[in-house]
Amino acid sequence: MSRLRLGVLISGRGTNLQALIDACADPGFPAEIVLVLANVPGAAGLDAASRAGIATATVDHKAFSGREPFDAALTEALEAAGVELVCLAGFMRLLTPGFVGHWRDRLINIHPSLLPAYPGLDTHARALADGVRFAGCTVHFVRTECDVGPIILQAAVPVAADDTPETLAARVLESEHRIYPEAVRLIATGQAKVTGERVAVAGAALPAATVNPPLGG
Ligand code: GAR
Repeated sequence: MSRLRLGVLISGRGTNLQALIDACADPGFPAEIVLVLANVPGAAGLDAASRAGIATATVDHKAFSGREPFDAALTEALEAAGVELVCLAGFMRLLTPGFVGHWRDRLINIHPSLLPAYPGLDTHARALADGVRFAGCTVHFVRTECDVGPIILQAAVPVAADDTPETLAARVLESEHRIYPEAVRLIATGQAKVTGERVAVAGAALPAATVNPPLGG
């Protein structure tokens, strides 16, 4: 079995990267991480990658005169490693249209909300302020706008009456760690395919509805 070659881009602690590392540790998983790239020197996720024996590189955006040369350096490193699918995992830089176009339908992101609701920063605080009953997370193909693009997979996470942005973020993060490897698996096996601006997932069953607060509760 040839495994899909992943490049993972991080800026910080890298818990989603760790979830991908753990999934790829299973020899039956149809993808492998060939490069972890950080734009922040010393990003914690780099250590996790090194411990797992994965090649790492730092491309510090501060060392570049602008976004274009920075993004070109990212592409150069990813292509030198033979990356086939780029996974943004807490990568907190906006990417240029040139980069996004080059990697079109080979570039995915995870975001801690049920997109298209709450793109950008402070998602959990905004969701709590609106009194929503479900928060969640989304894995999607990347387009030029921030946190926009064809949706591959989402998890809905119930909001508790006494949630703070921190408690909600922690609950959503657990689901992020489940759906990011699953989205990669769907792409690697060819089950998830972009058609137009939507993703068709072959053979997907429909889960039961959940209600929050529960009916009659
Ligand atoms: C995750 O919650 C991810 O969804 C979010 O950053 C966090 C990174 O955590 N990404 C975005 O908000 C993208 N717009 P991690 O470094 O522990 O994976």
